[in-house]
Amino acid sequence: MTLRALHDAAREKLDPVHYDYVAGGAGEERVLADNERAFDRYRLLPRVLRGSGTRDTAVGLPGARRAAPVVVAPTAFHRLVHPGGARGPARAAAARGAGLVHRLMHPDGERATARAAAAEGAVLVTGTAATTAVDGVVEAARAAAPDPAVWFQLYLHPRREVTEALVRRAEEAGCTALVVTVDSPVFGRHTRDLRNGFTDLPPGHAAENMRDLPGAPPGSLTDIPMSPALSWRDLGEAVRMTSLPVLVKGILHPADARLAVEHGAAGVIVSNHGGRQCDTVPASVDCLPAVAGAVAERVPVLLDGGVRRGGDVAVALALGATAVGVGRPVMWGLAAAGEAGVRAVLAALRDEYDHTLALCGGRRNADLTQDMVVRGGRTW
Ligand code: FNR
Repeated sequence: MTLRALHDAAREKLDPVHYDYVAGGAGEERVLADNERAFDRYRLLPRVLRGSGTRDTAVGLPGARRAAPVVVAPTAFHRLVHPGGARGPARAAAARGAGLVHRLMHPDGERATARAAAAEGAVLVTGTAATTAVDGVVEAARAAAPDPAVWFQLYLHPRREVTEALVRRAEEAGCTALVVTVDSPVFGRHTRDLRNGFTDLPPGHAAENMRDLPGAPPGSLTDIPMSPALSWRDLGEAVRMTSLPVLVKGILHPADARLAVEHGAAGVIVSNHGGRQCDTVPASVDCLPAVAGAVAERVPVLLDGGVRRGGDVAVALALGATAVGVGRPVMWGLAAAGEAGVRAVLAALRDEYDHTLALCGGRRNADLTQDMVVRGGRTW
C-alpha cells in the first residue's frame, strides 16, 4: 500500500476527533501545509555513469551504529490510533453512545510501532507522552530484533528531580539516546482539537511515563509540563545527568544549533514539530541548509516535517541531513493496519529512497550533495 492509501485507510477507520488530533496543526495550519509543499520546490539534479548495483543506505547515529535513514519521530498516544482501538466514525460514535469506547481501545499501540521499527532497522523515538511506558516499548522492540535502537524523547521538567527520574527510566529501560524537545515552551494551539473539545485523553489512556514521579502520590500521573522559563543551562544539566548521547529536537535557527552543540548535544533535529507549535515559521526543510552549514561537520543533523516520499529523504540528505524523521505517516500506518502498516510505511520510504539514490548515480548516502539540489528552478 502507498503512503497515501494508508492515510486514506486510517482516516476511514479513525474516530474523526482522533484523526484531527493527528492530522492537525497549530493556528491556520500554514506551517503544516508548507512542510509538505516545501518539498515540491526542491528537485534533484542527478549525476550519471557513476552508480552501483549494490547500494548502502545505512546511517550511523548516536546510539545506533547502523540504522535506516528514516527514523520514527516521537508522536504521542499510539494506543489512541491502534486499529484495535476506535474503528470508523460510525462505530466510534455508536460506541461512545453506549459507553464502550474504553473497551474498544487496544493495549498494543506503541508496542506495535516498536516491533515494526525494530524489524525494519529504524530508530524509534518513543516519547514522554507515549501511552505505553518506555520499558514496555523497548521490550517490544527487542522481541522483534536483536539489537534495536530506541531513543527516549523528553520534555525538560521545571523540577530537576522529575527530569532526572525520567532520564533514569529511559536508561534503565535500555534506550540508547535521549531526545530533548525544545520547541514547546508553551503548548501549541491546535485549532481542530480546540474546536473538537479534544483537550484530554479518553478514559483508559495516560502518558504512562509520567506515572509515579518524585513528589507525586503513588500511582498518580503528573501532567507533561511546558515551561517558557527553561534555558540552555537546563539543557546542559540534562546532558550532564546521563552518559547517553542527547539530541536536541526543534531547532530552526543556526545559532541555536551551535548553542546546542556547545551545550553538549550529540545531534540536532531540525523540526517545527510538524506545524503544531508556531504557525509563522518556515517549512523545516527550508531551515535545513543553514543548520547543516552551522553544525553538520560536528554532529549529525536530522530533519523532520513533511517527509512523504523517498525523493524527500534524498533531498534532505543532499542538503546535509544524516537522517530524517517521519511522524504522521507512521500514525496512519498504525491506524490502518497496526504493526504491518508501520512496516509498510518504513519499507516504502526506504525502497523509494534507495531507488532515487540509484537514479541519481549514488551508491552511498554521501554521494548526494548540495550541488545536486535545485530549489525553485535555481541550483545552489
Ligand atoms: C507529534 N510530535 C511530537 N514531538 C515531540 O517532540 N513530542 C511529542 O510528544 C510529539 N507528539 C506528536 C503527536 C502527534 C500526533 C504528531 C503528529 C506529532 C512531532 C513529531 O515528533 C514530528 O516533529 C512531526 O510529526 C514531524 O512532522 P510529520 O512527519 O508529521 O510531517
